[in-house]
Amino acid sequence: MSTLHTVPRMPGGLPFLGHALQFQRRPLAFVQALRERGDVVEFRVGPQRAFAVNRPDLINDILVAQAKRFEKGRMFDEAKVLVGEGIFTSEGDYHLSQRRLVQSVFHRNQLERYVPEIQRYAETTIGRWVESPRLPINRACFAHTLGAISSMLFGQAADERLLAGIQQEFPIILDGLLRRTAAPAQLMNTLPTPANRRFDKAVANMRRSIEHYIAGYDPVRAPGGLLSILTDEKNGLTGKQIYDEVATILLAGTESTADALSWACYMIASHDEVQSALQEEADQIMTSPQVSYGDLARLPVMQRVINEVLRLFPSTWVLTREPVEDVELGGYRIPARSMVIFSVRALHRDPLIYPDPDAFLPDRWLALEQGPSTERRQAFIPFGAGIRGCIGEQLARAELGVFLAVMCRNVTVRTIPGEPQPDVAATIMPVPTTINLSVKRRDN
Ligand code: HEM
Repeated sequence: MSTLHTVPRMPGGLPFLGHALQFQRRPLAFVQALRERGDVVEFRVGPQRAFAVNRPDLINDILVAQAKRFEKGRMFDEAKVLVGEGIFTSEGDYHLSQRRLVQSVFHRNQLERYVPEIQRYAETTIGRWVESPRLPINRACFAHTLGAISSMLFGQAADERLLAGIQQEFPIILDGLLRRTAAPAQLMNTLPTPANRRFDKAVANMRRSIEHYIAGYDPVRAPGGLLSILTDEKNGLTGKQIYDEVATILLAGTESTADALSWACYMIASHDEVQSALQEEADQIMTSPQVSYGDLARLPVMQRVINEVLRLFPSTWVLTREPVEDVELGGYRIPARSMVIFSVRALHRDPLIYPDPDAFLPDRWLALEQGPSTERRQAFIPFGAGIRGCIGEQLARAELGVFLAVMCRNVTVRTIPGEPQPDVAATIMPVPTTINLSVKRRDN
Protein backbone atom coordinates (compact mmCIF):
# COMPACT_ATOMS: atom_id res chain seq x y z
CA MET A 1 0.00 0.00 0.00
CA SER A 2 1.16 3.58 -0.71
CA THR A 3 1.57 6.24 2.04
CA LEU A 4 -1.68 6.37 3.92
CA HIS A 5 -3.57 9.40 5.18
CA THR A 6 -4.85 9.57 8.72
CA VAL A 7 -8.61 9.10 8.77
CA PRO A 8 -10.29 11.98 10.67
CA ARG A 9 -12.51 10.90 13.57
CA MET A 10 -15.98 12.18 14.28
CA PRO A 11 -16.04 13.77 17.75
CA GLY A 12 -18.89 13.26 20.21
CA GLY A 13 -18.84 9.47 20.55
CA LEU A 14 -20.08 8.12 23.90
CA PRO A 15 -18.55 5.24 25.87
CA PHE A 16 -20.06 1.90 24.76
CA LEU A 17 -22.57 3.57 22.39
CA GLY A 18 -20.17 5.44 20.15
CA HIS A 19 -22.26 7.57 17.75
CA ALA A 20 -25.16 5.11 17.63
CA LEU A 21 -27.71 7.46 19.20
CA GLN A 22 -26.94 10.30 16.81
CA PHE A 23 -27.10 7.93 13.85
CA GLN A 24 -30.39 6.41 15.05
CA ARG A 25 -32.18 9.57 16.14
CA ARG A 26 -31.10 12.19 13.59
CA PRO A 27 -29.68 10.15 10.73
CA LEU A 28 -29.75 12.86 8.07
CA ALA A 29 -28.11 15.51 10.26
CA PHE A 30 -25.53 12.95 11.40
CA VAL A 31 -24.66 11.85 7.87
CA GLN A 32 -24.37 15.50 6.82
CA ALA A 33 -22.11 16.26 9.77
CA LEU A 34 -19.88 13.31 8.78
CA ARG A 35 -19.70 14.69 5.28
CA GLU A 36 -18.48 18.07 6.46
CA ARG A 37 -15.47 16.42 8.17
CA GLY A 38 -13.78 15.00 5.08
CA ASP A 39 -13.67 12.46 2.28
CA VAL A 40 -13.48 9.51 4.67
CA VAL A 41 -14.46 9.89 8.35
CA GLU A 42 -14.34 7.33 11.12
CA PHE A 43 -17.11 6.97 13.72
CA ARG A 44 -18.35 4.16 15.97
CA VAL A 45 -21.58 2.23 16.21
CA GLY A 46 -21.27 0.64 19.65
CA PRO A 47 -17.94 -1.20 19.62
CA GLN A 48 -17.82 -1.43 15.84
CA ARG A 49 -15.55 0.84 13.80
CA ALA A 50 -17.46 2.55 11.02
CA PHE A 51 -16.39 4.76 8.10
CA ALA A 52 -18.41 7.27 6.13
CA VAL A 53 -17.17 7.65 2.55
CA ASN A 54 -18.11 11.00 1.07
CA ARG A 55 -16.29 11.44 -2.26
CA PRO A 56 -17.95 10.34 -5.54
CA ASP A 57 -14.84 8.63 -6.97
CA LEU A 58 -14.27 6.71 -3.72
CA ILE A 59 -17.91 5.59 -3.61
CA ASN A 60 -17.44 4.46 -7.21
CA ASP A 61 -14.34 2.51 -6.10
CA ILE A 62 -16.49 0.65 -3.56
CA LEU A 63 -19.29 -0.08 -6.03
CA VAL A 64 -17.26 -0.83 -9.14
CA ALA A 65 -13.44 -0.97 -9.08
CA GLN A 66 -13.08 -2.76 -5.73
CA ALA A 67 -16.57 -4.27 -5.55
CA LYS A 68 -15.24 -7.80 -5.01
CA ARG A 69 -13.67 -6.73 -1.73
CA PHE A 70 -16.97 -5.62 -0.24
CA GLU A 71 -20.02 -7.44 1.00
CA LYS A 72 -23.26 -5.50 1.41
CA GLY A 73 -23.01 -5.10 5.15
CA ARG A 74 -25.17 -4.73 8.16
CA MET A 75 -28.26 -3.07 6.71
CA PHE A 76 -28.62 -5.93 4.25
CA ASP A 77 -27.93 -8.59 6.90
CA GLU A 78 -30.83 -7.12 8.87
CA ALA A 79 -33.02 -7.26 5.73
CA LYS A 80 -32.49 -11.02 5.49
CA VAL A 81 -35.30 -11.59 8.03
CA LEU A 82 -37.65 -10.63 5.21
CA VAL A 83 -35.91 -11.41 1.92
CA GLY A 84 -33.52 -14.19 2.99
CA GLU A 85 -30.79 -14.84 0.43
CA GLY A 86 -32.51 -13.15 -2.53
CA ILE A 87 -30.31 -11.25 -4.98
CA PHE A 88 -30.50 -7.99 -3.00
CA THR A 89 -28.81 -9.53 0.02
CA SER A 90 -26.85 -12.63 -1.08
CA GLU A 91 -23.13 -12.63 -1.81
CA GLY A 92 -20.46 -14.04 -4.13
CA ASP A 93 -21.09 -16.89 -6.58
CA TYR A 94 -24.57 -17.58 -5.23
CA HIS A 95 -25.57 -13.95 -5.90
CA LEU A 96 -24.16 -14.13 -9.43
CA SER A 97 -25.99 -17.35 -10.30
CA GLN A 98 -29.31 -16.00 -8.95
CA ARG A 99 -28.83 -12.68 -10.75
CA ARG A 100 -28.23 -14.57 -14.01
CA LEU A 101 -31.35 -16.63 -13.43
CA VAL A 102 -33.69 -13.64 -13.09
CA GLN A 103 -31.84 -11.38 -15.56
CA SER A 104 -33.81 -12.59 -18.59
CA VAL A 105 -37.03 -10.85 -17.49
CA PHE A 106 -35.20 -7.48 -17.50
CA HIS A 107 -33.65 -7.79 -20.99
CA ARG A 108 -34.12 -5.08 -23.60
CA ASN A 109 -36.38 -7.31 -25.75
CA GLN A 110 -38.63 -7.85 -22.72
CA LEU A 111 -38.79 -4.09 -22.16
CA GLU A 112 -40.08 -3.74 -25.72
CA ARG A 113 -42.84 -6.10 -24.69
CA TYR A 114 -43.56 -4.38 -21.37
CA VAL A 115 -43.93 -0.81 -22.70
CA PRO A 116 -47.37 -1.31 -24.36
CA GLU A 117 -48.47 -3.10 -21.18
CA ILE A 118 -47.20 -0.22 -19.04
CA GLN A 119 -49.07 2.18 -21.30
CA ARG A 120 -52.34 0.24 -20.99
CA TYR A 121 -51.94 0.01 -17.25
CA ALA A 122 -51.13 3.73 -17.02
CA GLU A 123 -54.21 4.66 -19.07
CA THR A 124 -56.41 2.61 -16.76
CA THR A 125 -54.90 4.24 -13.68
CA ILE A 126 -55.20 7.76 -15.11
CA GLY A 127 -58.79 6.93 -16.06
CA ARG A 128 -59.41 6.24 -12.37
CA TRP A 129 -57.62 9.38 -11.22
CA VAL A 130 -59.48 11.72 -13.58
CA GLU A 131 -61.51 14.41 -11.84
CA SER A 132 -60.20 13.50 -8.36
CA PRO A 133 -60.46 16.66 -6.26
CA ARG A 134 -58.18 15.20 -3.57
CA LEU A 135 -56.04 12.21 -4.57
CA PRO A 136 -53.62 10.82 -1.92
CA ILE A 137 -50.76 10.62 -4.37
CA ASN A 138 -48.52 8.22 -2.49
CA ARG A 139 -51.18 5.57 -1.99
CA ALA A 140 -52.37 5.94 -5.57
CA CYS A 141 -48.83 5.56 -6.98
CA PHE A 142 -48.17 2.57 -4.73
CA ALA A 143 -51.27 0.74 -5.89
CA HIS A 144 -50.41 1.51 -9.51
CA THR A 145 -46.76 0.40 -9.28
CA LEU A 146 -47.47 -2.81 -7.42
CA GLY A 147 -50.22 -3.70 -9.88
CA ALA A 148 -48.02 -2.94 -12.89
CA ILE A 149 -44.98 -4.84 -11.59
CA SER A 150 -46.89 -7.88 -10.51
CA SER A 151 -48.79 -8.29 -13.73
CA MET A 152 -45.75 -7.50 -15.90
CA LEU A 153 -43.14 -9.60 -14.16
CA PHE A 154 -45.22 -12.28 -12.48
CA GLY A 155 -48.17 -12.42 -14.88
CA GLN A 156 -50.51 -12.23 -11.92
CA ALA A 157 -52.53 -9.36 -10.47
CA ALA A 158 -51.55 -8.20 -6.99
CA ASP A 159 -54.27 -9.13 -4.50
CA GLU A 160 -55.65 -6.71 -1.91
CA ARG A 161 -53.80 -8.49 0.84
CA LEU A 162 -50.43 -7.99 -0.83
CA LEU A 163 -51.19 -4.34 -1.52
CA ALA A 164 -52.26 -3.71 2.06
CA GLY A 165 -49.24 -5.66 3.34
CA ILE A 166 -46.73 -3.66 1.34
CA GLN A 167 -48.43 -0.34 1.97
CA GLN A 168 -48.82 -0.72 5.72
CA GLU A 169 -45.87 -2.84 6.74
CA PHE A 170 -43.10 -1.77 4.41
CA PRO A 171 -42.57 1.75 5.85
CA ILE A 172 -42.31 0.20 9.35
CA ILE A 173 -39.79 -2.32 8.04
CA LEU A 174 -37.66 0.30 6.24
CA ASP A 175 -37.59 2.51 9.30
CA GLY A 176 -36.70 -0.51 11.47
CA LEU A 177 -33.85 -1.52 9.16
CA LEU A 178 -32.07 1.81 9.54
CA ARG A 179 -32.62 1.80 13.32
CA ARG A 180 -31.30 -1.75 13.61
CA THR A 181 -28.27 -0.96 11.42
CA ALA A 182 -27.39 1.89 13.78
CA ALA A 183 -28.03 -0.10 16.99
CA PRO A 184 -24.94 -0.10 19.25
CA ALA A 185 -25.24 -3.88 19.81
CA GLN A 186 -27.07 -6.39 17.66
CA LEU A 187 -28.44 -7.95 20.84
CA MET A 188 -30.64 -4.85 21.15
CA ASN A 189 -32.50 -5.89 18.02
CA THR A 190 -33.68 -9.06 19.73
CA LEU A 191 -35.02 -7.44 22.93
CA PRO A 192 -38.84 -7.29 23.26
CA THR A 193 -39.00 -3.47 23.00
CA PRO A 194 -42.11 -1.88 21.41
CA ALA A 195 -40.09 -0.90 18.31
CA ASN A 196 -38.70 -4.43 17.87
CA ARG A 197 -42.13 -5.97 18.39
CA ARG A 198 -43.61 -3.62 15.79
CA PHE A 199 -40.83 -4.55 13.37
CA ASP A 200 -41.22 -8.32 13.95
CA LYS A 201 -44.99 -8.09 13.50
CA ALA A 202 -44.62 -6.10 10.26
CA VAL A 203 -42.13 -8.67 8.91
CA ALA A 204 -44.43 -11.59 9.83
CA ASN A 205 -47.47 -9.93 8.16
CA MET A 206 -45.49 -9.04 5.07
CA ARG A 207 -44.11 -12.58 4.81
CA ARG A 208 -47.61 -14.08 5.04
CA SER A 209 -48.91 -11.75 2.32
CA ILE A 210 -46.08 -12.72 -0.05
CA GLU A 211 -46.48 -16.45 0.70
CA HIS A 212 -50.20 -16.13 -0.03
CA TYR A 213 -49.40 -14.38 -3.31
CA ILE A 214 -46.97 -17.13 -4.39
CA ALA A 215 -49.44 -19.85 -3.41
CA GLY A 216 -51.97 -18.28 -5.80
CA TYR A 217 -49.65 -18.65 -8.80
CA ASP A 218 -51.11 -20.59 -11.71
CA PRO A 219 -48.42 -21.62 -14.28
CA VAL A 220 -51.07 -22.34 -16.92
CA ARG A 221 -52.55 -18.83 -16.80
CA ALA A 222 -49.19 -17.02 -16.56
CA PRO A 223 -46.47 -18.85 -18.46
CA GLY A 224 -43.10 -17.22 -19.23
CA GLY A 225 -42.89 -14.72 -16.33
CA LEU A 226 -40.53 -14.60 -13.40
CA LEU A 227 -42.55 -17.05 -11.32
CA SER A 228 -42.45 -19.61 -14.09
CA ILE A 229 -38.64 -19.32 -14.23
CA LEU A 230 -38.30 -19.58 -10.46
CA THR A 231 -40.68 -22.52 -10.13
CA ASP A 232 -39.29 -24.40 -13.16
CA GLU A 233 -38.02 -27.73 -11.82
CA LYS A 234 -34.97 -27.66 -14.04
CA ASN A 235 -33.67 -24.63 -12.09
CA GLY A 236 -33.87 -26.69 -8.90
CA LEU A 237 -34.92 -23.90 -6.49
CA THR A 238 -36.31 -24.81 -3.08
CA GLY A 239 -39.52 -23.22 -1.78
CA LYS A 240 -37.42 -20.90 0.39
CA GLN A 241 -35.30 -19.78 -2.55
CA ILE A 242 -38.42 -19.06 -4.60
CA TYR A 243 -39.89 -17.03 -1.74
CA ASP A 244 -36.63 -15.08 -1.27
CA GLU A 245 -36.44 -14.02 -4.92
CA VAL A 246 -40.13 -13.13 -5.24
CA ALA A 247 -40.03 -11.10 -2.03
CA THR A 248 -36.83 -9.38 -3.19
CA ILE A 249 -38.16 -8.34 -6.59
CA LEU A 250 -41.55 -7.27 -5.24
CA LEU A 251 -40.10 -5.21 -2.44
CA ALA A 252 -37.07 -3.82 -4.28
CA GLY A 253 -39.18 -2.93 -7.31
CA THR A 254 -42.38 -1.54 -5.84
CA GLU A 255 -41.55 0.88 -3.07
CA SER A 256 -38.64 2.52 -4.91
CA THR A 257 -40.57 3.08 -8.14
CA ALA A 258 -43.70 4.23 -6.29
CA ASP A 259 -41.61 6.74 -4.30
CA ALA A 260 -40.08 8.18 -7.46
CA LEU A 261 -43.47 8.34 -9.14
CA SER A 262 -45.13 10.06 -6.17
CA TRP A 263 -42.37 12.65 -5.96
CA ALA A 264 -42.48 13.20 -9.72
CA CYS A 265 -46.25 13.83 -9.60
CA TYR A 266 -45.81 16.22 -6.68
CA MET A 267 -42.96 18.14 -8.32
CA ILE A 268 -44.84 18.38 -11.62
CA ALA A 269 -47.97 19.57 -9.79
CA SER A 270 -46.03 22.28 -7.99
CA HIS A 271 -44.05 23.55 -11.02
CA ASP A 272 -46.44 24.90 -13.67
CA GLU A 273 -43.76 25.66 -16.25
CA VAL A 274 -42.42 22.08 -16.01
CA GLN A 275 -45.91 20.64 -16.37
CA SER A 276 -46.59 22.79 -19.46
CA ALA A 277 -43.31 21.68 -21.11
CA LEU A 278 -44.09 18.02 -20.37
CA GLN A 279 -47.62 18.36 -21.72
CA GLU A 280 -46.33 19.92 -24.92
CA GLU A 281 -43.78 17.13 -25.36
CA ALA A 282 -46.32 14.38 -24.62
CA ASP A 283 -48.76 15.92 -27.13
CA GLN A 284 -46.12 15.56 -29.83
CA ILE A 285 -44.85 12.07 -29.00
CA MET A 286 -47.76 10.21 -27.39
CA THR A 287 -49.88 10.32 -30.51
CA SER A 288 -49.93 6.61 -31.32
CA PRO A 289 -52.31 4.35 -29.40
CA GLN A 290 -49.26 2.16 -28.77
CA VAL A 291 -45.94 3.74 -27.77
CA SER A 292 -42.69 1.79 -28.12
CA TYR A 293 -39.61 1.52 -25.92
CA GLY A 294 -37.77 3.65 -28.52
CA ASP A 295 -40.30 6.49 -28.03
CA LEU A 296 -38.95 7.06 -24.53
CA ALA A 297 -35.74 8.49 -25.99
CA ARG A 298 -37.93 11.05 -27.80
CA LEU A 299 -39.07 12.50 -24.47
CA PRO A 300 -35.96 14.52 -23.43
CA VAL A 301 -37.82 16.92 -21.12
CA MET A 302 -39.33 13.90 -19.35
CA GLN A 303 -35.89 12.27 -18.97
CA ARG A 304 -34.57 15.44 -17.31
CA VAL A 305 -37.54 15.60 -14.95
CA ILE A 306 -37.03 11.95 -13.98
CA ASN A 307 -33.30 12.47 -13.39
CA GLU A 308 -34.00 15.53 -11.26
CA VAL A 309 -36.55 13.63 -9.15
CA LEU A 310 -34.11 10.72 -8.69
CA ARG A 311 -31.37 13.18 -7.76
CA LEU A 312 -33.44 14.92 -5.09
CA PHE A 313 -35.22 11.83 -3.71
CA PRO A 314 -33.14 8.69 -4.15
CA SER A 315 -35.17 5.96 -2.48
CA THR A 316 -32.14 4.35 -0.82
CA TRP A 317 -30.71 7.49 0.73
CA VAL A 318 -27.98 5.70 2.68
CA LEU A 319 -26.26 2.38 1.86
CA THR A 320 -23.86 0.13 3.74
CA ARG A 321 -20.95 -2.12 2.75
CA GLU A 322 -18.48 -4.31 4.66
CA PRO A 323 -14.92 -4.91 3.41
CA VAL A 324 -13.95 -8.60 3.56
CA GLU A 325 -10.27 -7.61 3.81
CA ASP A 326 -8.29 -4.45 4.56
CA VAL A 327 -8.95 -2.00 1.72
CA GLU A 328 -7.29 1.23 0.59
CA LEU A 329 -9.63 3.93 -0.65
CA GLY A 330 -7.97 7.09 -2.01
CA GLY A 331 -5.07 6.70 0.41
CA TYR A 332 -7.24 5.87 3.45
CA ARG A 333 -7.07 2.43 5.02
CA ILE A 334 -10.40 0.81 5.84
CA PRO A 335 -10.01 -2.28 8.02
CA ALA A 336 -11.65 -5.61 7.20
CA ARG A 337 -15.13 -6.15 8.69
CA SER A 338 -15.68 -2.51 9.63
CA MET A 339 -18.95 -0.82 8.66
CA VAL A 340 -18.81 1.43 5.61
CA ILE A 341 -21.65 3.82 4.83
CA PHE A 342 -22.27 6.34 2.07
CA SER A 343 -25.22 8.60 1.46
CA VAL A 344 -26.62 8.77 -2.04
CA ARG A 345 -28.80 11.67 -0.97
CA ALA A 346 -25.92 13.74 0.40
CA LEU A 347 -23.90 13.05 -2.75
CA HIS A 348 -26.83 14.14 -4.92
CA ARG A 349 -27.16 17.40 -2.98
CA ASP A 350 -23.50 18.39 -2.98
CA PRO A 351 -23.57 22.13 -3.86
CA LEU A 352 -20.20 21.90 -5.64
CA ILE A 353 -21.64 19.42 -8.11
CA TYR A 354 -25.27 20.59 -8.12
CA PRO A 355 -25.51 24.35 -7.44
CA ASP A 356 -28.68 25.32 -5.54
CA PRO A 357 -28.95 21.63 -4.63
CA ASP A 358 -32.40 21.61 -2.97
CA ALA A 359 -34.09 23.30 -5.93
CA PHE A 360 -36.02 21.27 -8.51
CA LEU A 361 -34.34 22.39 -11.75
CA PRO A 362 -34.72 19.75 -14.49
CA ASP A 363 -32.87 22.01 -16.94
CA ARG A 364 -29.67 21.65 -14.92
CA TRP A 365 -29.33 18.32 -16.77
CA LEU A 366 -28.86 20.17 -20.06
CA ALA A 367 -25.54 21.49 -18.78
CA LEU A 368 -24.65 18.26 -16.97
CA GLU A 369 -25.24 16.27 -20.16
CA GLN A 370 -22.53 18.40 -21.84
CA GLY A 371 -20.02 17.89 -18.97
CA PRO A 372 -17.53 15.03 -18.43
CA SER A 373 -19.47 11.76 -18.36
CA THR A 374 -17.30 9.98 -15.76
CA GLU A 375 -17.85 12.70 -13.18
CA ARG A 376 -21.56 12.83 -13.94
CA ARG A 377 -21.87 9.04 -13.62
CA GLN A 378 -20.02 8.97 -10.33
CA ALA A 379 -22.02 11.85 -8.84
CA PHE A 380 -25.42 10.43 -9.82
CA ILE A 381 -26.13 6.95 -8.51
CA PRO A 382 -29.86 6.61 -7.75
CA PHE A 383 -29.64 3.00 -8.98
CA GLY A 384 -26.24 2.25 -7.45
CA ALA A 385 -23.56 0.96 -9.83
CA GLY A 386 -21.52 -2.09 -10.77
CA ILE A 387 -22.44 -5.71 -10.20
CA ARG A 388 -24.77 -4.80 -7.30
CA GLY A 389 -26.41 -2.01 -9.28
CA CYS A 390 -30.17 -2.08 -9.79
CA ILE A 391 -31.32 -4.89 -12.05
CA GLY A 392 -34.61 -3.05 -12.65
CA GLU A 393 -33.21 0.37 -13.68
CA GLN A 394 -34.39 0.29 -17.30
CA LEU A 395 -37.75 -1.14 -16.30
CA ALA A 396 -38.20 1.55 -13.64
CA ARG A 397 -37.23 4.30 -16.09
CA ALA A 398 -39.70 2.92 -18.65
CA GLU A 399 -42.46 2.75 -16.03
CA LEU A 400 -41.84 6.32 -14.89
CA GLY A 401 -41.49 7.72 -18.41
CA VAL A 402 -44.56 6.05 -19.89
CA PHE A 403 -46.78 6.69 -16.88
CA LEU A 404 -45.87 10.36 -16.62
CA ALA A 405 -46.23 10.87 -20.38
CA VAL A 406 -49.71 9.30 -20.31
CA MET A 407 -50.54 11.48 -17.31
CA CYS A 408 -49.31 14.70 -18.98
CA ARG A 409 -51.14 13.89 -22.20
CA ASN A 410 -54.47 13.50 -20.43
CA VAL A 411 -54.67 15.40 -17.16
CA THR A 412 -53.29 18.35 -15.19
CA VAL A 413 -52.22 17.73 -11.60
CA ARG A 414 -52.18 20.51 -9.02
CA THR A 415 -51.31 20.95 -5.36
CA ILE A 416 -54.26 21.87 -3.16
CA PRO A 417 -54.14 25.32 -1.51
CA GLY A 418 -54.06 25.11 2.28
CA GLU A 419 -52.84 21.49 2.38
CA PRO A 420 -49.50 20.73 4.07
CA GLN A 421 -46.52 20.59 1.69
CA PRO A 422 -43.38 18.50 2.23
CA ASP A 423 -40.13 20.22 3.15
CA VAL A 424 -38.07 19.27 0.11
CA ALA A 425 -34.82 20.43 1.70
CA ALA A 426 -35.20 18.44 4.91
CA THR A 427 -37.21 15.32 4.22
CA ILE A 428 -35.60 11.92 4.00
CA MET A 429 -38.96 10.27 4.01
CA PRO A 430 -38.78 8.43 0.75
CA VAL A 431 -42.44 9.11 0.07
CA PRO A 432 -44.48 12.32 0.37
CA THR A 433 -46.87 10.37 2.60
CA THR A 434 -49.49 12.96 3.32
CA ILE A 435 -49.69 14.79 0.02
CA ASN A 436 -52.96 15.12 -1.84
CA LEU A 437 -53.20 16.44 -5.37
CA SER A 438 -56.13 17.45 -7.54
CA VAL A 439 -56.40 15.84 -10.96
CA LYS A 440 -58.37 17.44 -13.81
CA ARG A 441 -58.90 16.33 -17.37
CA ARG A 442 -57.01 18.63 -19.77
CA ASP A 443 -59.07 20.84 -22.08
CA ASN A 444 -57.47 19.82 -25.34
C1 HEM B 1 -36.93 4.27 -9.21
C2 HEM B 1 -36.88 3.00 -8.95
C3 HEM B 1 -35.69 2.27 -8.35
C4 HEM B 1 -34.64 2.75 -7.63
C5 HEM B 1 -34.34 4.20 -7.22
C6 HEM B 1 -33.80 1.61 -7.30
C7 HEM B 1 -32.60 1.70 -6.58
C8 HEM B 1 -31.74 0.63 -6.39
C9 HEM B 1 -30.42 0.74 -5.80
C10 HEM B 1 -29.76 2.02 -5.30
C11 HEM B 1 -29.89 -0.51 -5.79
C12 HEM B 1 -28.48 -0.89 -5.31
C13 HEM B 1 -28.40 -1.11 -3.82
C14 HEM B 1 -26.95 -1.31 -3.38
O1 HEM B 1 -26.00 -1.08 -4.12
O2 HEM B 1 -26.76 -1.71 -2.22
C15 HEM B 1 -30.87 -1.42 -6.33
C16 HEM B 1 -30.71 -2.77 -6.45
C17 HEM B 1 -31.70 -3.63 -6.86
N1 HEM B 1 -32.93 -3.27 -7.41
FE1 HEM B 1 -33.60 -1.41 -7.71
N2 HEM B 1 -34.38 0.49 -7.80
C18 HEM B 1 -35.53 0.84 -8.46
C19 HEM B 1 -36.39 0.00 -9.14
C20 HEM B 1 -36.29 -1.37 -9.19
C21 HEM B 1 -37.19 -2.27 -9.89
C22 HEM B 1 -38.38 -1.81 -10.74
C23 HEM B 1 -36.78 -3.54 -9.62
C24 HEM B 1 -37.36 -4.84 -10.05
C25 HEM B 1 -38.58 -5.02 -10.46
C26 HEM B 1 -35.59 -3.45 -8.77
C27 HEM B 1 -34.87 -4.51 -8.28
C28 HEM B 1 -33.63 -4.41 -7.69
C29 HEM B 1 -32.82 -5.57 -7.31
C30 HEM B 1 -33.24 -7.03 -7.42
C31 HEM B 1 -31.62 -5.08 -6.79
C32 HEM B 1 -30.44 -5.90 -6.26
C33 HEM B 1 -29.45 -6.15 -7.40
C34 HEM B 1 -28.24 -6.98 -6.99
O3 HEM B 1 -27.74 -6.83 -5.88
O4 HEM B 1 -27.77 -7.75 -7.82
N3 HEM B 1 -35.33 -2.12 -8.53
N4 HEM B 1 -31.99 -0.69 -6.70
